[in-house]
Amino acid sequence: MSSNSTLDKPQAAGTIYVKDIPSRETRLTLGGVISVSPMAIGTWAWGDSTWGYKPEMFNDIANTWDALQEGSGINFFDTAEVYGSGESERIIGRLLKKSKEEGKTLPVVATKFIPFPWRIRYPSSLLDALKGSMERLGVDVVDMLQIHGPVSLRSIEVIADALAESVKLGLVKTVGVSNYSISEMVRMHTALAKHNIPLASNQVEFSLLRRLPETSGLIAKCHELGVAVLAYSPLGMGRLSGKYSAENPPPSGRRFSNYPMKELVPLLTVMEKIAKKHDKPMTAVALNYTICKGTIPLGGARNPEQARQNAKALDWRLSEEEIAELDSVALIGCTGLVWQHG
Ligand SMILES: NC(=O)c1ccc[n+]([C@@H]2O[C@H](COP(=O)([O-])OP(=O)(O)OC[C@H]3O[C@@H](n4cnc5c(N)ncnc54)[C@H](OP(=O)(O)O)[C@@H]3O)[C@@H](O)[C@H]2O)c1
Repeated sequence: MSSNSTLDKPQAAGTIYVKDIPSRETRLTLGGVISVSPMAIGTWAWGDSTWGYKPEMFNDIANTWDALQEGSGINFFDTAEVYGSGESERIIGRLLKKSKEEGKTLPVVATKFIPFPWRIRYPSSLLDALKGSMERLGVDVVDMLQIHGPVSLRSIEVIADALAESVKLGLVKTVGVSNYSISEMVRMHTALAKHNIPLASNQVEFSLLRRLPETSGLIAKCHELGVAVLAYSPLGMGRLSGKYSAENPPPSGRRFSNYPMKELVPLLTVMEKIAKKHDKPMTAVALNYTICKGTIPLGGARNPEQARQNAKALDWRLSEEEIAELDSVALIGCTGLVWQHG
């Protein structure tokens, strides 16, 4: 077992994180209703200009989708209404339609609603946006709807009522939040409980470049409440892949954990050593670390090769000594006023 003591505590509801070595068949239960793999694929880069997306990249993404269905074990995708101004959801909608026509088992798709300041009327703001997401995804019911960020002109309780309404109307199977602090998450959990609806997840930036959700006690609190932790930017937006360096930095605009690459040399050196020892790509080390800490990583993948490499995070586990060594060179990170409360 890892050095993280939170993993030794009993789970409050369902299986929301992997305790032992995951396999390609392992499934976790979120919100008591959706059954997902211990890692997911983040799709912000699919259709979004932040990542330099161009329509001619669609074939790479379609091939990535197909590669994942070839026994990777991964059945979980994360998107949002704002990624590519809806283009990420539209791309997933096309791929879901294709998989349906081919008679394949459809994966679980989580999307997100942003409580923009001009969205003040609830539940209508949320329900209208949700209907837009459903149209783009081409689905009658959304597997998981998350509140993208914690800042809103309306209270957490008003947003909880709107989320509950989406579940009661049968438009959404389960609900989550993102970037919520511990206290905001507890408030949402309590407000949803009044509707007998569990809070399925809190999605926060968690990686070797941002251990904060672990050190702040957020992961432990999530486990206590039965809330799954979805770890976003688990590859540090590509910085933990081993392909970027001070001489070859990542493209600009990758704003989360945006450290100068030269500051990451001690961490990348340890990661490389561990990757070589296990004959795994560095991305698989980064993702395995987040799994060992009791989270579900949402690693982005832009082509089939990246998807296959990242799927190698399953079927093995870092040793306690390796986790401790990685902890000693990992960064803690910080919170932000507007977005990253958790
Ligand atoms: N809730 C939120 O506020 C929030 C915020 C951020 C992200 N997210 C979610 O989390 C997901 C993942 O985060 P992220 O997309 O920011 O970054 P990430 O998963 O940390 O990094 C993904 C990027 O790393 C590179 N990469 C991936 N696998 C690789 C491999 N095997 N070899 C080399 N390079 C590789 C790719 O970019 P290049 O090839 O271009 O380098 C890829 O797009 C997002 O897609 C989104 O779903 C949520």
